[in-house]
Amino acid sequence: MKKIIRIWDLPIRLFHWALVVCIVASIISVNIGGNAMQWHAYCGYTILALLIFRIIWGLLGSTHARFANFVPSKAALLGYLRGKSKAVLGHNPLGALSVLGLLGVLLLQAITGLFADDEIAFQGPFAKYVSETVIGIFSEVHEANANLMYGLIALHLAAIFYYQKIKGENLIKPMFTGDKEIDPSEEVKYSPAVLGQASKDGSLQRGLALLLLSVIAIVLGYFITSS
Ligand code: HEM
Ligand code: HEM
Repeated sequence: MKKIIRIWDLPIRLFHWALVVCIVASIISVNIGGNAMQWHAYCGYTILALLIFRIIWGLLGSTHARFANFVPSKAALLGYLRGKSKAVLGHNPLGALSVLGLLGVLLLQAITGLFADDEIAFQGPFAKYVSETVIGIFSEVHEANANLMYGLIALHLAAIFYYQKIKGENLIKPMFTGDKEIDPSEEVKYSPAVLGQASKDGSLQRGLALLLLSVIAIVLGYFITSS
């Protein structure tokens, strides 16, 4: 019988798919331009709230959500690259780097957007507090960083496709169900201690996550609307 282990708690799964929807919507709206820039901004604020939530959840959240449990040491990364390490349940050492890269690039994108100007009719809400030169710099970074973002997303999707097709490991299903299913024949790939590391995903964790996201949304909403 397969061992079923919860790896991604509901907050992480909702974070991930909400992030994907908002990024797609932000790209569509910026390409439409004009009045749709307001929607680009709404998507950007939501992404910023989601990212702040994810960073705090990386400190308070369940086992596999925590940075301390997946940010790799140099030795772990080298061991993984040499194919010498045991299998892991959550992000593998290389995947962890791509997750950190994505979170960092998206955070920079959301923050620079707050000060950017499309030189037509739309400005980020904090642009009025800085000089024209600073607006110019933030807008340039926002534009250039968007390319880095596309690159990292492409790499992310390529890595998932590689795992699916070449390594025969479906990473996508656990991002929906939360669970990793391990066949008895695969158990030797993991150390026994690792197989005991499930993520807690009860109503307490979910309630805490909802409270946290609500507080972030209210505080962020306050700063944006009162600017
Ligand atoms: C806008 C596009 C996307 C972005 C920005 C993005 C971002 C991320 C981030 C930040 C994580 C880390 C999750 C966490 O620990 O918080 C992640 C993980 C993951 N994403 Fe995406 N994602 C995107 C699209 C997709 C799509 C389209 C799929 C499925 C086809 C997907 C499948 C996954 C999977 C399976 C993981 C877990 C990887 C693992 O097992 O280590 N992502 N993604
Ligand atoms: C992570 C969230 C965000 C993403 C993924 C994103 C993505 C993008 C992309 C792809 C572009 C087009 C860049 C180009 O010209 O090639 C753009 C432009 C722009 N975005 Fe965002 N954006 C985000 C957040 C924001 C926010 C929060 C605001 C302001 C409220 C904003 C305001 C703008 C403006 C004013 C432009 C035009 C800048 C220019 O033409 O130089 N963005 N954004």
